Amino acid sequence: MDNKLNFIVMREKCIRCNACIEDCPRRIIDYRDNYPDIPAHLEEQCIGCQHCLAICPTGAVSIFGLRAEDSLPLETTPALAPDALSRFVRGRRTMRQYRSENVERPLIDKLLADAAHAPTGGNTCDLTFIVVDKRLALRRIFEDLIDGLEKSIAEKPELPEFICKAIYAHRHSNVDEIFRGAPHLLIASAGEKAYCGDADVVIALSYFELLAQSHGLGTTWCDFLKFILDLRPEMGKLFGIATDRPYRAILFGLPAVQYVRTVQRDKMVRVRTISS
Ligand SMILES: Cc1cc2nc3c(=O)[nH]c(=O)nc-3n(C[C@H](O)[C@H](O)[C@H](O)COP(=O)(O)O)c2cc1C
Repeated sequence: MDNKLNFIVMREKCIRCNACIEDCPRRIIDYRDNYPDIPAHLEEQCIGCQHCLAICPTGAVSIFGLRAEDSLPLETTPALAPDALSRFVRGRRTMRQYRSENVERPLIDKLLADAAHAPTGGNTCDLTFIVVDKRLALRRIFEDLIDGLEKSIAEKPELPEFICKAIYAHRHSNVDEIFRGAPHLLIASAGEKAYCGDADVVIALSYFELLAQSHGLGTTWCDFLKFILDLRPEMGKLFGIATDRPYRAILFGLPAVQYVRTVQRDKMVRVRTISS
């Protein structure tokens, strides 16, 4: 195998503290000629997590051609105050009323780049983000979806009541119960290499949701779309996704309303404790 990892330790910077060796999840880094190294025959075991680069206190490690100085430096204390994060998580809400303006593309790109830092099982990072970045484009897809559903009824009449209701709401009241009038849709779709794809797509969109809301955007998880595509997989072509691979969708945009307090859910989830 080629030396694709390009694992390089700068000798003038390395203080031989063992940090990269001990933190490697595959434990494939060891000393060679007094400096950390990954033997060629173990390279294929590397999962590409970059922990060696992230943990080196002196920035001596480079891997995949990435330089320590191009990473964001991290504080030794947590960057977020726990109380602020707790309030933020409790204040996250599902938005179902959107303004019609598009979100600026640079902000969408920033959110996607940040969400790409969500963990994936085994660090496969085999995700594709499909983003609808214009309100009119999502509106057209919505129309196509409704048209497609109506046409499909001739061949496959069985459609759950909530989908029939959404078609009726659109045709008779111009209400969008599927995309909630949001201007944007993001789908996270897992590729063949993702062996934890079900979790990967949900985690990536969970990160995206919190990041988006930190910028004042509203978000709506859209399993309604997944219900439809599970019933009518051929409609996945509207988004260019393979519906037999794990995927999940979330809507986003500028909110038209604001929540002024949290809901109260502390006791809604059962807690079972195992102490011995
Ligand atoms: C996996 C998942 C799928 C969801 N799908 C939809 C959806 O298709 N349409 C919708 O309006 N809300 C959807 N929601 C939003 C939930 O209804 C919402 O999270 C729940 O009512 C709690 O409200 P909150 O998010 O404001 O706390 C979904 C949420 C999750 C987690």
